[in-house]
Amino acid sequence: MTGSELRRKYIEFFKKHGHTEIKSASLIPENDPTCLFTTAGMHPLVPYLQGAKHPAGTRLTDCQKCIRTGDIDEVGDPVHLTFFEMLGNWSLGDYFKKEAIDFSFEFLTGKENLAIPLEKLAVTVFAGDDLVPFDAEAYDIWRSHGIPAERIAKLGRKDNWWGPAGTTGPCGPDTEMFYWTGTEPAPEVFDPANKLWVEIWNDVFMQYNKTADGSFEPLAQRNVDTGMGLERVTAVLQGKASCYETEIFAPLFAALDAVRGVENVERTASDRIIADHLRAATFILADGITPGRVDQPYVLRRLIRRAIREGRKLGITGKLFTSKIAEAVIAEFGEFYPELVEKRDVIVSELDREEKQFGITLENGIKEFQKLVDRVPAFVEKKVISGKNAFNLYETYGFPIELTCEMAIEQGFEVDTKGFDEAFKKHQEQSRAGAEQKFKGGLADDSVGTARLHTATHLLQAALRKVLGTHVEQRGSNITSERLRFDFSHPDKVTPEQLKEVEALVNEAIKRDIEVICEELPIEEARSRGAMGLFGDKYNDVVKVYTMGDVSCEICGGPHAARTGELVSFKIQKEESSSRGVRRIKAVIGA
Ligand code: ALA
Repeated sequence: MTGSELRRKYIEFFKKHGHTEIKSASLIPENDPTCLFTTAGMHPLVPYLQGAKHPAGTRLTDCQKCIRTGDIDEVGDPVHLTFFEMLGNWSLGDYFKKEAIDFSFEFLTGKENLAIPLEKLAVTVFAGDDLVPFDAEAYDIWRSHGIPAERIAKLGRKDNWWGPAGTTGPCGPDTEMFYWTGTEPAPEVFDPANKLWVEIWNDVFMQYNKTADGSFEPLAQRNVDTGMGLERVTAVLQGKASCYETEIFAPLFAALDAVRGVENVERTASDRIIADHLRAATFILADGITPGRVDQPYVLRRLIRRAIREGRKLGITGKLFTSKIAEAVIAEFGEFYPELVEKRDVIVSELDREEKQFGITLENGIKEFQKLVDRVPAFVEKKVISGKNAFNLYETYGFPIELTCEMAIEQGFEVDTKGFDEAFKKHQEQSRAGAEQKFKGGLADDSVGTARLHTATHLLQAALRKVLGTHVEQRGSNITSERLRFDFSHPDKVTPEQLKEVEALVNEAIKRDIEVICEELPIEEARSRGAMGLFGDKYNDVVKVYTMGDVSCEICGGPHAARTGELVSFKIQKEESSSRGVRRIKAVIGA
């Protein structure tokens, strides 16, 4: 079964069981200040898991684009990916454990579904601890399907608990399903530590809300959140040890081979990094991000540049190649993700631009390297590039250490790689501390302050379009309970006069104390009313539209203030560049 067939089969199965298919949300979380990327299928659904009504109903299914950068340095081995697709089915206060496990069992073992023999299946359930009891219900349901007791492992919170994605929020015990990948028959007793058992699916029973004091209170609405990694399941069903060996990556490797003018080569870490990173980059570009210096633009730039460096290792020089790989990604995934096709021109031109720019960066690095070398007099016997200098070349010029070492050898130099490693580690620790800050939270809170800032963001966008022009479109939004941050397309710095004008327009709308009206409308109607939307392409059939008089009308998940007057006043604190062609405004509200 191919990856596309699995995707279709999964969605059709759940549609047959009363679920509505929803489109993948953007890779860029809309109102989550703490996460750069969408990391799981449940991530865009958090407001609904917390009780907001979803326009598509209480049973949903989808295939969500996800990015996880936590293991980015591991990419290159046969298993790690940054971009992946997660299949999921949700019950929003609808069915619970019984039906969820029944569905999973039927999909995994049913003849017309995945037809996995019972002998190759094992599961884990939550063993219980001092806060939450053993999940006897899940255990009994699996037993009722004929899963032997020896094939059900009871594990603790570390393994069988999911969420909250942030410090507080919906969470609960889960049950994970494992597939036996060994060639010998599976041992009777399931040992989750045995690597031949591969996890393929996770059903989370969200019945608790973790509160700020660390306790778990029962949720009013009990949900089911499930996640099946498409690439991994495709690989195991095909008997492949790695998802990179499946047809999912074949067209990407073929495009790479064509660039290199080679055939039938063995796949190396470089091939895998190029395929993974440029697949991720293509999808991120399609969601409206362009390479830059902070946040998502920075991650995007890193992915592209690392792919280029790996390309050099494979001998690709003097020609642009990243957009060729992107073309293969668009051809393969464009049918399911039409945004790739719609954004083809931007994807190709941004990749070409970044690749050219990085070429210049590398040339500058080579010059810088030469300066270091020239500084050492010929009579010095032991010529060394210090760790600090090697790291500086890496950090400032994006110059890979391997390249520094190779060039050093050519000129009779050694590189203090130990010193480089130390400098690198120190830097990593510093940036990790920063990243943890960013990733530690998780999901948007729905406090009153946040809702009001959300309303302020709509007013700000409307004012910007009035003052600067209708080319202004949202490129990102990040709201904490203290401030809003809004990224938008605009080629130039916004002048102080323009900022004043924008501020005045927002304050005028606040003074008018306009009622914020929320309606659920078919997408066509929303569009024909001129409702603004984000990134253009990822909406379901019925959407929420927030209207504020004649000032603003936007498709949005909310939550919002009831009236604009609640905001009291609006003040812009800062205007700066976010990435090329994108400006960023930070603003606050209140008395
Ligand atoms: N949210 C769960 C996961 O990501 C299903 O594994």
